[in-house]
Amino acid sequence: MFISFEGIEGAGKSTAINYLAGFLQENGHDPLCTREPGGCALGRSLRSILLDARTRELSSRAELFLFLADRAQHVAEIIRPALEAGQTVLCDRYTDSTLAYQGHGRGLDTEYLQRLNQAATGGLQPELTLLLDLPVRCGLMRAGERNRLEGLVVSEGRFDAESLDFHERVRQGYRVLAEEEPERFAIIDASQPPEDVVLQCRSAIESHLRQRGWGLE
Ligand code: TYD
Repeated sequence: MFISFEGIEGAGKSTAINYLAGFLQENGHDPLCTREPGGCALGRSLRSILLDARTRELSSRAELFLFLADRAQHVAEIIRPALEAGQTVLCDRYTDSTLAYQGHGRGLDTEYLQRLNQAATGGLQPELTLLLDLPVRCGLMRAGERNRLEGLVVSEGRFDAESLDFHERVRQGYRVLAEEEPERFAIIDASQPPEDVVLQCRSAIESHLRQRGWGLE
């Protein structure tokens, strides 16, 4: 089973993924947690270029192709082998991040991006995508707080440093994507406290498993 997690910065994806990995494990699944960018060795090198606020000269297209290179390698090296071995893959960001950030955020054509995503992944789509949705100001405040706690005040990342408008376009972009594919997406109200957010995510996964007749142990 392949589940992706999407949302603006500070939505609480990592907390949710950590909790759900434990929950799935207790229920007979073998979860693998991974992320983009940076889920494989190549991706970790690309991540440092992509997220470093000092990378100023990167054009939108160059940025796009670095995310896609990360994804192509990540699918080939990590995600497909894990799925073939019967693991449940929990992926922090995937193809929808490209549509929301490079498409709705940066203004690149989303149909063109769909085709590139298809090429990079060989058509591998998550069967469930949890969109952790919350107001932009609330997400950025949480992300700022996290950066402060991690001592990253001085070097906030390229995307954290984008304007409110940019993040607003990304958020609305995600909502459009979720409306276009309601069977794949579950929208989670991420403005709630973390313990409530993880429970919403858990019910979305449980109901997905029930629909497929798989159940938990
Ligand atoms: P990260 O620190 O992983 O952010 P978060 O903790 O919010 O997930 O940074 C990843 C950043 O890269 C995030 O701002 C979104 C951006 N991104 C894209 O713009 N396009 C993509 O295809 C992906 C995977 C990420």
